[in-house]
Amino acid sequence: MADDGYVLVTGGAGYIGSHTVLELLNAGYKVVVVDNLVNSSEEAIRRVEQLAGNVHVPFFNTDIRDYDGLDKIFTQYKVSAVLHFAGLKAVGESVQKPLEYHDNNVAGTITLLKVMRAHGSNVFVFSSSATVYGDATRFENMIPIPEECPTDPTSPYGHTKLIIEEILRDVAGSNDAQIKVGILRYFNPIGAHPSGRIGEDPRGIPNNLLPFVAQVAVGRREKLQVFGNDYDSRDGTPIRDYIHVVDLAKGHLAAVKKLNSITQPAFSREWNLGTGNGSTVFEIVHAFEKATNKPIPVEVVGRRKGDVVNLTAKPSRANTELDWHAQLTIDDSCRDLWKWATANPWGYGEQPDK
Ligand code: UD1
Repeated sequence: MADDGYVLVTGGAGYIGSHTVLELLNAGYKVVVVDNLVNSSEEAIRRVEQLAGNVHVPFFNTDIRDYDGLDKIFTQYKVSAVLHFAGLKAVGESVQKPLEYHDNNVAGTITLLKVMRAHGSNVFVFSSSATVYGDATRFENMIPIPEECPTDPTSPYGHTKLIIEEILRDVAGSNDAQIKVGILRYFNPIGAHPSGRIGEDPRGIPNNLLPFVAQVAVGRREKLQVFGNDYDSRDGTPIRDYIHVVDLAKGHLAAVKKLNSITQPAFSREWNLGTGNGSTVFEIVHAFEKATNKPIPVEVVGRRKGDVVNLTAKPSRANTELDWHAQLTIDDSCRDLWKWATANPWGYGEQPDK
């Protein structure tokens, strides 16, 4: 259970944020959401409110780079913890628009931290990514990947995640803000809430595997392009650690609980959130076909720039220190994704995209 303050969730209308807001509400936390809706929908918050039993969630359409806007929210609500999801996350786009990525992700986080310092808010959980590791196969014995694996991201997006991590470690190591920081390195979140009411709703053509597969299955796209089958893996396609988004959401509650239990004023720690099991692209496609009873036409094309062969987590640090384990399977994820996709073939919107 929470103390008397609010948990402020940036990016709370987005895919992972909305699932985490729901878990927080179900656990009795009071939540306030800040989101600029650049890649999300306010409808997600309305549905979360319903799923939680018609709990009201204060929502602010505010950009995290807006110091005054954030300052007003922190003045209105006593914020005991911040879960920071808001950020741009498309790898390819980050190569085209690096300044926008650094401005949104890095400068936005700095602004948020300054507002927290001004209000004495001192628990911070950050959405980092396994992308900070880069190609872990460059070392012997680094698959599954432990948090000690040296970092080396391969895109501007990945750089922003690592730079923010460094900033957080610096801030936590100083007496300046007296902040307690949890850095959560996500592997590949998939699936949807089992109700089928909230899920992933990417704008435009999906970059990620499962949203694309789901759009093929509902008839929005003709076929899946598989980006390379000449990798050093059991079927030639890359291996990822796919984790159900509800398990991932619960990892945030475990992190908040852990940080609240820490008495030292300045603290930071990285935790991998993954299952420890890797699946290839073809294995995922087959699992989805099995769950939906629908064939997914595929075409193997060339490799996608920046893809690495294997990102599988070693989750033992989070298992032990957070008392958290991923519990749901790939089949659960595919079933729940299908429920979301069939009930909401156009996501939260009504109009087909171009
Ligand atoms: C990527 C980023 C990650 C980011 C995440 C969310 C890397 C290494 N990873 O994850 O940091 O947080 O996106 O945006 O940069 N695939 C296809 N066809 C498709 C789409 C994907 O074959 O149409 C394959 C990819 O080659 C990959 C796997 O599916 O092997 C998973 O891809 P994706 O869902 O995009 O996730 P990552 O690339 O692992």
